[in-house]
Amino acid sequence: MNVVPLVCLFLLTRSGTTSAAGHEVIIVEEDSDVILPCSLDSKENIVAALFDWKKVAQRDQGRKDVFLYDAGDHYNNGRDGQSPEFRGRVSHFPDQLNHGNASIIIRNTKVEDTGNYTCDFPRLQTPQTFSVELVVDPFLRDRSGERTGAAPEPYIRTLHEAKYWRLLQCEAHGNPRPEVEWQDRSGNKLPADKPEFSERGSIFYVNLNITVKETDLYRCVATQETLSHQIHAVIPVTISASSPGAAGNVVMVAVSVLITLLSQQTKI
Ligand SMILES: *[C@@H]1O[C@H](CO)[C@@H](O)[C@H](O)[C@H]1NC(C)=O
Ligand SMILES: *[C@@H]1O[C@H](CO)[C@@H](O)[C@H](O)[C@H]1NC(C)=O
Repeated sequence: MNVVPLVCLFLLTRSGTTSAAGHEVIIVEEDSDVILPCSLDSKENIVAALFDWKKVAQRDQGRKDVFLYDAGDHYNNGRDGQSPEFRGRVSHFPDQLNHGNASIIIRNTKVEDTGNYTCDFPRLQTPQTFSVELVVDPFLRDRSGERTGAAPEPYIRTLHEAKYWRLLQCEAHGNPRPEVEWQDRSGNKLPADKPEFSERGSIFYVNLNITVKETDLYRCVATQETLSHQIHAVIPVTISASSPGAAGNVVMVAVSVLITLLSQQTKI
């Protein structure tokens, strides 16, 4: 098995800062604050200098004006020209200017901030440009309405209600096909039936049934990893009687299988 070392290598290269052949890569999580470093080796005072941070043009977007400082004038004290997506999120470190430090901080990082950034000193005797690559890793959260194909809230129905158990069904859909699972109130994954898949148009449907025997708040969670999207629905279940034991269980499983089969047939 080569999987474990590979995973370790992956984790190592995906965290923190790596610098290969002068190309610095900074990796942070979405919604965090990040400092993009830029310092002159000479450590000369840059209070009266000009430095200009840009985000390099990418496939789907042009070059962006991130932060410009010109002898005390900058985007946070009235200067125009900053790209709107960076407005109010970027600042420099005034107390660092007297030793050549033009680093900036970007607050509340978004996945869209990912890209290459340059820090330019065009007016120095020998103009200098520094560059750094920023990678903002998304985490799973509700992105419905934000990403096309993102699954809406799953739909839960009770297929059968008996004295000692319930048969619940969760239906989720989206494109790509969502992964669906049942969880208890504390977020533990619960054993469920085999999922049923279907497709209408370009939308993928998933039905996942579960038989529950205890009072709890059950949660059906739909995840689309490639969209960094996760959404859930909940259903409270109250079962007042306790299970009558093994014989009852056999009957219950048989009935639940029957209902599952019937529900599959009525759907077609
Ligand atoms: C520049 O300033 C930032 C913010 O205070 C700091 O994190 C960084 O270490 C400084 N860089 C150098 C080279 O001193
Ligand atoms: C940033 O630049 C590096 C080196 O030129 C390149 O390999 C990488 O693909 C660029 N990243 C982005 C997001 O454009």
